[in-house]
Amino acid sequence: MIKATAEEDARILRPAGGVLASSEAGFTHARTYDEGRAAEEAKMKKLRWGILGAARINKALVPPLQASERNELVAVASRRLEKAEAEARQWGIPRSFGSYEALLADSGIDVVYVPLPNALHAEWTIRAARAGKHVLCEKPLALTLEEADRVAAAAREAKVVVAEAFMYRHHPQTTKLRELVAGGAVGTPRLVRGAFTFNLTRETDVRLDPQGGGSLWDVGCYPVSFTRFVLGEEPAEAFGWQVTGPTGIDETFAGQLRFPSGCLASFDCGFRAPFRTSIEIVGSEGVLSVPHPFKPGPSAQVLLSRGGAAESIEIAGQELYRGEVEDLADAVLLGRPPRVSLADSRANTAALLALFRSAREGKPIAVSATA
Ligand SMILES: NC(=O)c1ccc[n+]([C@@H]2O[C@H](COP(=O)([O-])OP(=O)(O)OC[C@H]3O[C@@H](n4cnc5c(N)ncnc54)[C@H](OP(=O)(O)O)[C@@H]3O)[C@@H](O)[C@H]2O)c1
Repeated sequence: MIKATAEEDARILRPAGGVLASSEAGFTHARTYDEGRAAEEAKMKKLRWGILGAARINKALVPPLQASERNELVAVASRRLEKAEAEARQWGIPRSFGSYEALLADSGIDVVYVPLPNALHAEWTIRAARAGKHVLCEKPLALTLEEADRVAAAAREAKVVVAEAFMYRHHPQTTKLRELVAGGAVGTPRLVRGAFTFNLTRETDVRLDPQGGGSLWDVGCYPVSFTRFVLGEEPAEAFGWQVTGPTGIDETFAGQLRFPSGCLASFDCGFRAPFRTSIEIVGSEGVLSVPHPFKPGPSAQVLLSRGGAAESIEIAGQELYRGEVEDLADAVLLGRPPRVSLADSRANTAALLALFRSAREGKPIAVSATA
């Protein structure tokens, strides 16, 4: 059995924060779900969830799912029945299936969580949508824009909600930072700097797989998503450098994004450096420093430096992964647009693809060239 290091377990277990919906993300949300079905499902009150795969990340999602009043975890599937049964025993999940297909065929499941390797996200999200299930899919939702478009089409056709599981988006710290930036707390945004690295110790990890592996898809997606969100705009151009490992994936990536407003962003991510995350937003008049941007705790702290003074801003939250579970319930039961729209997910993929292409070609790439 492969054992996660304490550090990697900590990446999943340490965070705590996240809260019910507050403000909209500011992007245009593609409405994929109709009011009639929402009203019908609101009467059911509890959404019955099934999980595809006995993934390590399940330990982050299962507790908030089981604590939620509007959600209920009823099934788990694995490619091997014994593995599904063991996962079911561990978490007290009533039903287990020896194939993903069998779980999707169960009419007693309303929502499917997809924590599969990245290269399988779009495929199983589409299969789940076609089976009439709502879907919460782990990041990244899609590895190509064609995949992103096929997911959106499947959601639209089946009239189901599909959302990418960017849990940090649901934490009040994220919303507060966007409000602070939009409200001029740092003046005009000039620079955003971000980082997300950790030491990957399992050499058979799916993150090293040439299909969908690599640090940019795995953790670089966070600073890119965060920067787009706090600035409320999409990057025009991308530049990237990567250091690849024996399997060909990027083990270290350093990227830059140029935004139409004139703000520049830079970030790094990687599998071969200690665990660290950060975001710094530098404006014409001040600096916001965010020590835990992607995995904030129950009480998050950011530092605003301006005019020679520094102010610590406390932001209350709740268990981090609870937010995406409740947001999905809001979307299905109340007909609200999910906080992470499919248009938003598509735009993040476009930025990541431009960064990859830049790293391959050694020159800046217009994001519109990939979008
Ligand atoms: N949001 C977050 O905080 C966060 C944190 C960690 C990971 N994630 C995301 O969650 C996803 C899973 O990550 P993880 O670390 O939990 O991975 P993992 O432990 O390797 O789990 C992936 C699961 O996918 C299933 N699977 C199906 N086909 C597979 C294949 N060809 N090779 C390997 N596994 C296969 C396996 O389940 P069965 O054998 O039971 O079928 C496996 O347990 C990734 O997309 C990752 O980006 C998100």
